[in-house]
Amino acid sequence: MPGLVIVGAQWGDEGKGKVVDLLAEQADAVIRFQGGNNAGHTIVREGETFKFHLIPSGILYPGKPCVIGNGVVVDPQVLIGEIDGLRRQGIDLSGLRVSANAHVIMPYHLLLDRAGEARLGKREIGTTKRGIGPCYADKASRLGIRVQDLLDEKILRQKIAAAMEPKAPLLRDFIKDPSLDLHQMTEDYRAFGDRLAPHIADTPPIAWDALDRDRLVVFEGAQGTLLDIDHGTYPFVTSSNPVAGAACVGAGVGPKSIDEVWGISKAYCTRVGAGPFPSELHDEMGDRLREAGHEFGTTTGRARRCGWLDLVALRYAVRVNGLTGLVLTKLDVLTGIDPLPVATSYSGPEGASFEQFPYHQSVLHHVRGETVELPGWHEDITGARSLEDLPENARAYVAFIEEQLGIPVVTVGVGPGREQIIWTESASSVTRQSASA
Ligand code: GDP
Ligand code: IMO
Ligand code: MG
Repeated sequence: MPGLVIVGAQWGDEGKGKVVDLLAEQADAVIRFQGGNNAGHTIVREGETFKFHLIPSGILYPGKPCVIGNGVVVDPQVLIGEIDGLRRQGIDLSGLRVSANAHVIMPYHLLLDRAGEARLGKREIGTTKRGIGPCYADKASRLGIRVQDLLDEKILRQKIAAAMEPKAPLLRDFIKDPSLDLHQMTEDYRAFGDRLAPHIADTPPIAWDALDRDRLVVFEGAQGTLLDIDHGTYPFVTSSNPVAGAACVGAGVGPKSIDEVWGISKAYCTRVGAGPFPSELHDEMGDRLREAGHEFGTTTGRARRCGWLDLVALRYAVRVNGLTGLVLTKLDVLTGIDPLPVATSYSGPEGASFEQFPYHQSVLHHVRGETVELPGWHEDITGARSLEDLPENARAYVAFIEEQLGIPVVTVGVGPGREQIIWTESASSVTRQSASA
């Protein structure tokens, strides 16, 4: 069982960081394969909270090879800030590697992200304003700056000039912005290159070597399936592919290296930013989920929109990612909600009903989640460590999800702490391998 992909099955913030941290203990390498510092992954260990935006969530194990893959877009200033912060917390970063082929977020990407949102006005996407979209756009336009370019002043200056030239009309409003001075930018980014140099590497061989030895490699996704630029709720998406297929491209391994794909889903649903959200709650129940689940963004601090678990969207995530297991997080947040609605289909205008996730934007914007009600539970479940410890109705909730999705639930989260987790028998293909590794 060497290759395990972890992906968000909803709109992000499902609890990927916590799961990757747990799996990393047994893994030989953890590899982030897409996204950038739009991500915010929280890990709570012995009461201490760690927030990662770029660094893979395996870094808390000293010396663990943790790779920022070629598919990631890297803001070097943010990465250096994260490295310095972790060092202050006493974390060993000797295992951190950054792909020389990863693309770099530049000051003009940040300005263009902000300007793009301002131009859209009421129709804004609600991006994290971290320059993600403009950086991926430059990558596709072959105008990107890559991590390796930070090591050569002449190449760096030429590439920055070439990247900025076609953007001149768009950057006109920022002409006096000191961050756009070519000389200064080259100097600053060369200095970032020097700081990052000990970590810059040719990273795919790290994965190949571990896979050749049949060791566990965790491919860590950011964002979530419904934010995927191809398969998500376009245009209200991010600019990369958070789906499992992208793990191969963003890490440099072939599809046959992937053995398992686990999707992470909350026991309910959240979204931050604009765009369709069929099971969204606009009432006090939505506020209750937000408060109980502390649903405020790790990256931007924005309040997350909340709603019931959406099984239509999850069934879609099962197919698009080829999920072999579901990690259900935050079941504890639902304690005391009785009955407990779950969306199993969508209703649209003129009596239309959808069992499948609609592909058409104008349909998707008008559908509403149709719910069935399951019996809730009132007992505190934060101390549960096996399915048997859960109240019967909580077990029935998990079983209902398995039946609706046709895949097993491999773990259940019952609190933010790393010990607050239930491993089911279905996780054994990974845990058994890990134990024998
Ligand atoms: P990620 O982006 O997918 O890594 O998720 P975030 O870290 O942005 O958001 C998930 C939040 O839920 C974090 O604050 C976690 O500490 C927290 N969390 C994860 N699993 C659980 C769980 O099972 N129960 C509760 N109550 N909180 C959880
Ligand atoms: P993690 O990895 C939740 C959302 C933004 C916005 C859209 C596009 O923590 O789950 P972008 O800045 O990427 O161009 O914004 O995507 N978004 C996320 N939402 N979790 C994330 O990451 C997100 N990363 C981006 O809110 O709606
Ligand atoms: Mg997050």
